[in-house]
Amino acid sequence: MLRDPWSAYAGPGEFPPSSCRGAIRDRSLPAEDLGHRRTRGAVGVPRDQRPGVGTGETRRLRAVIRVALLGYGFIGRVHLAHLRRLRGVQVVAVVESDPEKLRTLVRGNIPAGEEEASVEGLSCLADVADVLGRPDVDVVDICLPTHLHKDVALRALEAGHHVICEKPLALSLADVDEILARAERSGRRLLVAHCIRFWPEYEFLQSLVQSGQFGRPRSAIFRRVSPFPTWGGSDGWFSDPQKSGGALLDLHIHDVDIAQLLFGRPRAVFARASWNSKGASTCVFAQHIHEGGPLVFLEGSWEHAAFEMSFHVAFEEAEVRYNSQARPALRVIRRGRVEPEFPEIPGEDGYARELRYFVECLESGREPSRVSLPSIRSAMEIAFAELESARTGNVVFLAE
Ligand SMILES: NC(=O)c1ccc[n+]([C@@H]2O[C@H](COP(=O)([O-])OP(=O)(O)OC[C@H]3O[C@@H](n4cnc5c(N)ncnc54)[C@H](O)[C@@H]3O)[C@@H](O)[C@H]2O)c1
Repeated sequence: MLRDPWSAYAGPGEFPPSSCRGAIRDRSLPAEDLGHRRTRGAVGVPRDQRPGVGTGETRRLRAVIRVALLGYGFIGRVHLAHLRRLRGVQVVAVVESDPEKLRTLVRGNIPAGEEEASVEGLSCLADVADVLGRPDVDVVDICLPTHLHKDVALRALEAGHHVICEKPLALSLADVDEILARAERSGRRLLVAHCIRFWPEYEFLQSLVQSGQFGRPRSAIFRRVSPFPTWGGSDGWFSDPQKSGGALLDLHIHDVDIAQLLFGRPRAVFARASWNSKGASTCVFAQHIHEGGPLVFLEGSWEHAAFEMSFHVAFEEAEVRYNSQARPALRVIRRGRVEPEFPEIPGEDGYARELRYFVECLESGREPSRVSLPSIRSAMEIAFAELESARTGNVVFLAE
């Protein structure tokens, strides 16, 4: 299992791992037992009387984790498709404010299983308030437009639910801090859905950096380019920087996060961007400056004709290239050898793996440390530094 190098990070203002105080209901227990134990433990049960996740009886018996999905747009459908396949998970409600979305298929920029997600047989509601605080909801999965994340995440944690929240977690560092502090105080688990941390080819790259198999990384380029996400409305919430954070926070954040995971926090960043008429970034080129470390360049864009995510990393003894549009997508070229190798990486995509990981953490009572909260904050801080650099034209230094 790959280790998140940030999982032990405890710098100033960071949040130490919370103790495992949440709980999931065990379906195999008799009803009166459930009523007595109120195992999710959030509503009306004092915090110090709540049982832990996966402890004692719930660990021995098969637990069912009951999830309410909020937002049935592109990524909500992807989550639903995977959640419905996960053993030990029951989707108890889908909340979607636009009834048209329940009838039509929203396609995003990559085929990701969204066509397999059906709400057939599920309880469909229109208002988030209809699920928050419900005792039969263990986990709230937030797939709403980004400007709604903060309010809903805070309310969900306060109501005692574990939370999965799509990236980016929020649109300012102050809001990120407020959510992380609430998660810590509530004792509930929070997973920010940075799916690329779970994407097999990026995991492969991380294993090469960590093992040093090909020596040290000398340079890296990360690209994530896409057409503008019109599924949110051609002039909809994605185009509004106050709602989406622009391409920089919405799309490019994945690569900012992966770059820091692989190479650590940069000393400084420099970025250039283009903007739409509302001031949302639509394309960003950034450099992460590491003293004595690899040269790192990143491109994120909503200005392309087709989606592509890729990386190209030169190690001392080999180079590794991945391009989601190429077949084969992944290749390794060892220095001095002409023929590339094509490592085969079987398995599910990062969406399935991140959701499975969170469910396993809840079942076992483990902290979801592969997406530690300090590392999420750090990625957001780097992204905001890039934004400042793109706006001012200056190199922006990050606090140690
Ligand atoms: N991890 C990834 O790869 C990935 C990919 C796409 C989107 N995302 C993130 O997921 C989030 C959603 O993006 P999307 O592409 O699915 O957007 P979307 O517009 O397709 O979906 C959002 C859905 O929420 C619904 N909604 C809006 N307000 C609501 C409310 N108050 N109550 C209930 N439903 C409401 C909308 O009608 C819509 O169906 C964003 O934060 C985005 O950045 C992540």
